[in-house]
Amino acid sequence: MSYPATRLRRLRRTSALRDLARETTLSVDDLVMPLFVAPEALPNERLPGLGRHTVEGVVREVEELVRLGVPAVILFGVPEEKDEDGSGAWIEDGIVQRALRALRPRFPELVLMTDVCLCEYTSHGHCGVVDGDDVRNDPTLDLLARASVSLARAGVDIIAPSDMMDGRVAAIRQALDQAGLANTPILSYAAKFASGFYGPFREAADSAPQFGDRRSYQMDGANLREAMREIEADIEEGADMIMIKPAMPYLDVIAAARDRFDSPLAAYQVSGEYAMIEAAARNKWIDRERVMMESLVSIRRAGASIIVTYYAQEAAKLLG
Ligand code: PBG
Repeated sequence: MSYPATRLRRLRRTSALRDLARETTLSVDDLVMPLFVAPEALPNERLPGLGRHTVEGVVREVEELVRLGVPAVILFGVPEEKDEDGSGAWIEDGIVQRALRALRPRFPELVLMTDVCLCEYTSHGHCGVVDGDDVRNDPTLDLLARASVSLARAGVDIIAPSDMMDGRVAAIRQALDQAGLANTPILSYAAKFASGFYGPFREAADSAPQFGDRRSYQMDGANLREAMREIEADIEEGADMIMIKPAMPYLDVIAAARDRFDSPLAAYQVSGEYAMIEAAARNKWIDRERVMMESLVSIRRAGASIIVTYYAQEAAKLLG
């Protein structure tokens, strides 16, 4: 049937009709807020979601998030000191470990995730062990596994490795199981692209590589089929959930992954995506709230059920 029998505008006439016909919903239950923990607070006026908090500051932030119904946070750490091996990632009293110990008893229902990667903790800023110009794969696995066990012991609910080393999901799974932490799930940043959209994050987390770039371990942005292989490998290695990152420039990858895999699927609306919306809104070129919500719905429509976003708190206010 076609026009005039079919008139697609019939269901757009009123707000209630549009609500009934809506295919995709966004709920506060889908959102994860990233938070940066550091020895000293460093507010970010232009991009408030990228500010650093002390352990006490993180507790206050989380109080507000929990009040708004945000179910989960993902923690990143900026350590006091960096070294070659990124030991700040796995030491007993690491900054994220301390934050977890402060948060866990206060917020028993909150889903606590931690990003597992070495780049914030290494003096060279790479996500793995460096030998000359080479970022070595296999020697890095052991360090990631140590960090994961240490974070799980400190009370984390979900371990989220973001380094893109081959074999890290299997290494982390094995280490967790051996440590008696068989119930700790892994959310793998399975398809993480080498992206210019991480710029503002690297400033916030002080994690920019001191030489070269991350193209020898993060994925080439031109490759969708390779992304499917990355996801497949991580699921085979034991990933409980998978993530694609960035989100908006890679909606096709999200859609393809949703089509192909049955694991819970997350997407990370990264710092550069957030910064672009903020900058355009500050110039009054776009309507900030409207574009924020539209961007989040687009990620859900592509097929992600979980969205990591610096807008989690604000979107929760609008959704509530
Ligand atoms: C750590 C990590 C990065 C991001 C999340 N985890 C930075 C990177 O890979 O350089 C980026 C998140 C964002 O831009 O918001 N490896």
